[in-house]
Amino acid sequence: MILIDGKKEAAELRETLKYEVSELKEKFNKVPGLTVILIGEMAPSQIYVRNKEKSANEVGLKSEVIRYPEAIEEKIVLEKIKELNNDENVSGILVQLPLPKHIDKQKVIEAILPEKDVDGFHPMNVGNLSSGYESSVPCTPLGCYLLIKKIEPNLSGKKAVMIGRSNLNGKPMTQLLLKENCTVTITHSKTKDLKAECLEADIIVAAVGIPELVKADWVKKDAIVIDVGINKTEKGIVGDVDFKEVSKIAKALTPVPGGVGPMTIACLLKNTIECFKRSQR
Ligand code: GUN
Repeated sequence: MILIDGKKEAAELRETLKYEVSELKEKFNKVPGLTVILIGEMAPSQIYVRNKEKSANEVGLKSEVIRYPEAIEEKIVLEKIKELNNDENVSGILVQLPLPKHIDKQKVIEAILPEKDVDGFHPMNVGNLSSGYESSVPCTPLGCYLLIKKIEPNLSGKKAVMIGRSNLNGKPMTQLLLKENCTVTITHSKTKDLKAECLEADIIVAAVGIPELVKADWVKKDAIVIDVGINKTEKGIVGDVDFKEVSKIAKALTPVPGGVGPMTIACLLKNTIECFKRSQR
């Protein structure tokens, strides 16, 4: 079994990006800038944002975090986004989710210029991705995709099963696999026989948030299994895949933590650099 080392892959990607940033600096005499907006005090968001900032600095990006209290008015956030849209030193804008209930998430997402939308959540980027045009691609599925491609560069004709249909993961992941000529099945909470679907799969991507849902007898021998889940349980943090059992069957599997997570952040940096490069064309 190949234990997919997301930490190592992410470190390699960051090295490549660091080199790319130094080249861009030489060519344009400036570096890509990432601005993250963080609202409220939610612990997981605080940790993610701190990691994003640290990684951005490590590869040489200009990074800034704007923090607002939980009760901030939506209007103030939208005005700030407008200001950042017009700031030529800002290549990428990310508003950390989830947002407080009084703030309209979709309004915030749509306020970000598609050209600076490093999350790939803007309808323009969603549409471009599904039409096969150039776009920002959401960081988590992009990270999963790069991990899968490292194991199996030619995905043409492979059967892929996506567990979960979220805008954050499931839907964009499906588009990436489709682009690689996979036959993709999207499954979700109403799917009749999830086990039977999974047993057909050469590739399984699990992103539903159900602890250890995917069992060993759901997985075909030699399948690649990517676990996007981060679930807090009494055992500690576990993924959506029963790691111990599935590792005996699968060809390759991502651990939780240390699998998809580190790649997500590295892909955010990659997206920021891509946005910068497109802005310089
Ligand atoms: N919260 C959890 N994951 C993400 C992500 O990929 N982007 C943003 N903006 N917020 C998140």
